[in-house]
Amino acid sequence: MRQAPGQANQQLKPASTGKRRMLASAVVSGLTLALAGAMPVIAQSKDGKLKVGLMLPYTGTFAALGTAIENGFRLHLNEQGGKLGGREVELVKVDDESDPAKATDNVNKLIKRDNVDVLIGTVHSGVAMAMAKVAKDSGTILIVPNAGADAVTGPMCAPNIFRSSFSNWQPGYAMGEVMAKKGHKRVVTITWKYAAGDESVRGFKEAYEKGGGKVIKELSLPFPNVEFQALLTEIAATKPDAVYTFFAGGGAVKFVKDYAAAGLKKSIPLYGAGFLTDGTLEAQGADADGLFTTLHYADSLASARDNAFRLAYAKTFKLQPDVYAVQGYDAAQMLGVGLNAVKGDISKKAEFAAALKNAKIDSPRGVFTLGKSHNPVQDIYLRQVVGKENKVISVASAKAITRYKTFT
Ligand code: BEZ
Repeated sequence: MRQAPGQANQQLKPASTGKRRMLASAVVSGLTLALAGAMPVIAQSKDGKLKVGLMLPYTGTFAALGTAIENGFRLHLNEQGGKLGGREVELVKVDDESDPAKATDNVNKLIKRDNVDVLIGTVHSGVAMAMAKVAKDSGTILIVPNAGADAVTGPMCAPNIFRSSFSNWQPGYAMGEVMAKKGHKRVVTITWKYAAGDESVRGFKEAYEKGGGKVIKELSLPFPNVEFQALLTEIAATKPDAVYTFFAGGGAVKFVKDYAAAGLKKSIPLYGAGFLTDGTLEAQGADADGLFTTLHYADSLASARDNAFRLAYAKTFKLQPDVYAVQGYDAAQMLGVGLNAVKGDISKKAEFAAALKNAKIDSPRGVFTLGKSHNPVQDIYLRQVVGKENKVISVASAKAITRYKTFT
């Protein structure tokens, strides 16, 4: 586990550590009580600061995604004068490297060594599932600012786990409807072989085959492998009507460029969940021009809320925001909503959860609410790459819910 350089991570004084451990375990065993509103007041850190553990990838193929999430989170925090629910916020950062094998250790260190009050993370679905398990077992509040693992807001859902992003099923299902309506009859899918890729393709296939299409081949390679050549040769030989894909970050940049370089872009239309072209357009250049994708954000929403967010983000970070920045910003907004309701007393978990359940989150993507299992209920946009922007074409799926209808 690594502390990012320059982070103001002031550890608690040793005298308070034991007490906090005891109290943390009281939170664990008392979660049910807490949810019934009967939890005793939990002491705060001596300086009164709220410790927020940011567990994100800062290296590897998803590094830029982690940075954008942190930037978005910081932007909202700065807008609130560095405080949420009346408490100053201290960030403790961990690079999770998008490595599920290290995830349980990393999250346990944040909880047990750093004594964080809240967890924010992460990008990779496999890492997020490990985080969700620890959060569920420990009762620590977790807000997931990207990872779409369907189970986190499905079978693994919990009163203390929330998501500011999407479930993998959401953009995939929306694109299945779009491609079936476009009249493509035979489609090949290609993705990384892990939860996010599998679930994105599953959502796509469900809607696409319902709409009359047929998935004739499902191709995959291990995460985060980017040696696409053999699979591109197989696509060329199969000659489908179109290709559906889930890739993100550095892998998405390389896939789009390799697809064009293999001469496939002209003959076999490429579609994807919007991560294929979000935060990647500078690097993809003309090879991304014209691509259609589905996502819960776009660069041309042009609402007053989004314009203000984009301007503030660009001014602060000298970068254009993307979907990951929005999700980080909204994770901070959600934390603020919960903390305001409990006046900064994070031990009041039932009240914290109730506030979020009833909240309308005023996101740059458009207002969203949380469903029963704490997944955003939100519009999924059909977008097309024009120049360096993901332009909105239409709302592909209005108020999309989650794969697990019983959990909505
Ligand atoms: C995921 O692993 O859930 C994921 C990673 C990057 C972008 C979108 C989803």
